[in-house]
Amino acid sequence: MSILALDNVSYTYKSRYQEVQAVKNASFSFQQGKVYALVGKSGSGKTTVLSLLAGLDLPSEGQVNFGNTSTRQLDRDKYRREDVAVIYQAYNLFPLLTALENVMYPLELKGIKAKEAKPQAAEMIISVGLTEEVFKRYPAMLSGGEQQRIAIARALASRPKVILADEPTGNLDTENGANIVSLLKSLAHEKNRCVIIVTHDLSIAGQADVVLRMHDGEVALEG
Ligand SMILES: Nc1ncnc2c1ncn2[C@@H]1O[C@H](COP(=O)(O)OP(=O)(O)O)[C@@H](O)[C@H]1O
Ligand SMILES: [Mg+2]
Repeated sequence: MSILALDNVSYTYKSRYQEVQAVKNASFSFQQGKVYALVGKSGSGKTTVLSLLAGLDLPSEGQVNFGNTSTRQLDRDKYRREDVAVIYQAYNLFPLLTALENVMYPLELKGIKAKEAKPQAAEMIISVGLTEEVFKRYPAMLSGGEQQRIAIARALASRPKVILADEPTGNLDTENGANIVSLLKSLAHEKNRCVIIVTHDLSIAGQADVVLRMHDGEVALEG
């Protein structure tokens, strides 16, 4: 069974002056254990699809289904806290928290006490290939690649089944970008996560199990 699915999804941004149909009748089923790349020109609707999958917004028409449940029926706050993680190009770490505290944050949101959250966060940071040395550093004291690893560790701390990444390597050099992609791949293939990466980098798309292309709001499987 698919973990996440778009069922005839359309999305229209409406303002007083204009309407933009950003997603048009998109249908697709995502499975656990696979890496998906979502490619397409700027403005084709990729970020909008990701925010619908993340439950940040609801489709104008159609359904986004997590397992058997539409995001219209889901407790979307709980869904975002426990089942899905989003990683951004800009890392979005909390600047006034150390690396370790950044990763502890979602655990504490779940009600886990600091005493337990600390070793769990430490384990996550080690699992993304960093060492104890970074625990006490603030984001500004980390390289871009290290910051993105901390952002991934933070995203993984709540053990979500679905990992969504919007241009996660956009600010990284080729080598660090490739490292992040192998990390995301191992999460899908070894930890059975469903990983969906928005990218315009074709070398990243080439490493995905499935490539989807967006064109003017339409989603199609790349042949
Ligand atoms: N908040 C918004 N209000 C109005 N239009 C938007 C908004 N966000 C995105 N759009 C429009 O929706 C379309 C798809 O945007 P987006 O999903 O960000 O594409 P991509 O991520 O592929 O660059 C574009 O035409 C964009 O201008
Ligand atoms: Mg975008």
